[in-house]
Amino acid sequence: MTLETPVLDPSPDDPDATRSPHAGEGPGIHSENFKFPKGFLWGGSTSSHQVEGHCVDNDWWAWETSGKVAEPSGAAADHYRRFREDFDLARQMHHNAYRFSLEWSRIEPLEGRFDADGLAHYREVIEALHERGMEPVVTIFHYTLPNWLAQKGGLEHPEFERYFERFVARIVAEYGARVKWWLTFNEPVVQVFKGWIIGQWPPGKTQDFMGGLKVVRTMLRCHVRAYHLIHEQRSDAMVSVAKHALALTPCNPKSRRDRLSVWARTYLFNHLFLDALHSGALRVPGLFWERLPQRRTLDYIGLNYYTRDFVQNTGLSLPGLVGNICTLEHHQHIGKRNDLGWEVYPEGLAHFLRVYARYQLPILITENGLPASNDEDRWTFLYLHLWQVARAVSDGIPVAGYLHWSLLDNYEWADGFRARFGLIAVDYATQARTIRSSGLKMAEIIRKNEL
Ligand code: FCB
Repeated sequence: MTLETPVLDPSPDDPDATRSPHAGEGPGIHSENFKFPKGFLWGGSTSSHQVEGHCVDNDWWAWETSGKVAEPSGAAADHYRRFREDFDLARQMHHNAYRFSLEWSRIEPLEGRFDADGLAHYREVIEALHERGMEPVVTIFHYTLPNWLAQKGGLEHPEFERYFERFVARIVAEYGARVKWWLTFNEPVVQVFKGWIIGQWPPGKTQDFMGGLKVVRTMLRCHVRAYHLIHEQRSDAMVSVAKHALALTPCNPKSRRDRLSVWARTYLFNHLFLDALHSGALRVPGLFWERLPQRRTLDYIGLNYYTRDFVQNTGLSLPGLVGNICTLEHHQHIGKRNDLGWEVYPEGLAHFLRVYARYQLPILITENGLPASNDEDRWTFLYLHLWQVARAVSDGIPVAGYLHWSLLDNYEWADGFRARFGLIAVDYATQARTIRSSGLKMAEIIRKNEL
């Protein structure tokens, strides 16, 4: 047996052994492996209703003004009028991309009547981004419906697909040539959960599993149609959905039932929608099976990631299998929590980047962020999550970009204005903007394109 002699000193004959890989950078940790790819998309995300202000013709406005939530959105961040100023600030932070949504109720405020001002507005938004060298990432549907359609039954209306298709055909004709990156739906399963299972959002139904499932089916079919319309206009378009992914852990890891519930919830919340678009079949084991008109209608994966929850089984029926979220009840003291009580859990982002890599498509992080009144917490969160992104990149996962939620403080639906998500702070009394220190630090990472 021979023993290898450990090499204690670098051989003077081997030039590589003596040269620091970071010559000239001085001592410390260096980020040779933590570079982001060239062309990486960096920016912030918003949605129309949450920032524009006065979206008076949609169902959320009706919901708020009938007292269903703590406070109404009102002028929000007045982004409808101040978008250029906001994009200037984004440029100061070196952003090269921006995700926003089209407000259907501004574009088609009355059934079949497309509004010239509404259409012109988003053309100006897209132009303003191009002028600043920023890539528009456009969400077609971010939760809000025009009132005329909501009043007819909204997503449950038998002709919803036709209405959606007519809307998409119009916006694609208007903006298709100037927009490459599209998202058809934002967090479809979250919308169904909030609107059909827990009744917190419009249309306010509860425990309506079959109704919710039909809406999921409608959204899937609408996505397929939109995918085609967009590609007919622009063959190199990138089309996806913004998929909310929620990390899930069993309340009691030793309980088989809790583990079963984690499995069921993980499938329903995190996989069903993407799997359906990829495979071309909507499958809910034991309940539902249907082919979609086509498979493989995703050009990339849009990933929204925030936190994790704990799940407790409550029985063997469908609601029992889906179980209960018992995070705050049983696990409140685990980890760090943000202003809305969500755990800071960066491992979850790493997990989903790995899991969704199985589609062998680029992954664009379309949302990631936290409500934090203390900006130091935002910076820590950002850094920890970007660390996971950089690690995924160095592991070969094709991450196309990182869009932080949010570019600026905004109206957080049922939680109102108290949740401060912005890289840019908004003083709602004056609408004055201030870039937060976390935004400046993120700008430095963007400038170097490495961590
Ligand atoms: C996501 C939504 C977005 C925003 C963030 C905090 O689930 O897509 O509109 O509310 O959460």
